[in-house]
Amino acid sequence: MDGNGRWAKKRFMPRVVGHKAGMDALIRVVDHCQKRGVEYLTVYAFSSENWKRPEDEVSGLMNLVLVGVAKYLGKLASQGVRVRIVGDRSAVSEKVRAAWNQSEADTAANTGLVLTVCFNYGGRWDIVQAARRAMAEGLSPEQLTEEALSARMSLAYAPDPDLFIRTGGELRVSNYLLWQIAYAEFHFSDCLWPDFDEREVDRALAAYAGRDRRFGGVKTTGSASSIA
Ligand code: FPP
Repeated sequence: MDGNGRWAKKRFMPRVVGHKAGMDALIRVVDHCQKRGVEYLTVYAFSSENWKRPEDEVSGLMNLVLVGVAKYLGKLASQGVRVRIVGDRSAVSEKVRAAWNQSEADTAANTGLVLTVCFNYGGRWDIVQAARRAMAEGLSPEQLTEEALSARMSLAYAPDPDLFIRTGGELRVSNYLLWQIAYAEFHFSDCLWPDFDEREVDRALAAYAGRDRRFGGVKTTGSASSIA
């Protein structure tokens, strides 16, 4: 969800105002993805590297978790969305941890779109924590297969993304879902995240629909059910 800072700067406002607008955009995108039959939507809200940002921006983002959960959790829960959080929760405050725990608990029985929020997350962190788990369980080198590692990744409950979207005009992956995007289709948009709307989602889905997916084999067709 890139481009919040630039969106705010263009309006001569603090970066955190862009993040707040980004939160509203996220809710819009969830609604529209649900309408379009997307089953899994995974978003990158705070990376392991985002701690390097100025203190007021980091605390603004943490506060936005509390504000966002208070404002939107009821709505998401009532429309059947299941919220899941992945990332290292040990480093966030007790309040933020409680908000995430509540989001998961209040939506645990929901069977609609699965919204995963990656928070204090990094793709490399995820691979390392999965390998550590496997080692702690005593797996032998022969037992450490792709399947065994996949089963221990923090997104083991979700299919690998069909479609990977990056907004804000940057053409890089930035340590996001490194393991899971092996066969994802990429869509890069110049749109700044707070402006990402229904039309942009449809544009990304249309781009996806035009791709030939071969997974190293022969051509298959289908619609994107998992977006990151
Ligand atoms: C990257 O844009 C965006 C972030 C680091 C924060 C993303 C957070 C939200 C969209 C709000 C939703 C929050 C939660 C907790 C669900 P940037 O700041 O790097 O933008 P820039 O490249 O224009 O500076």
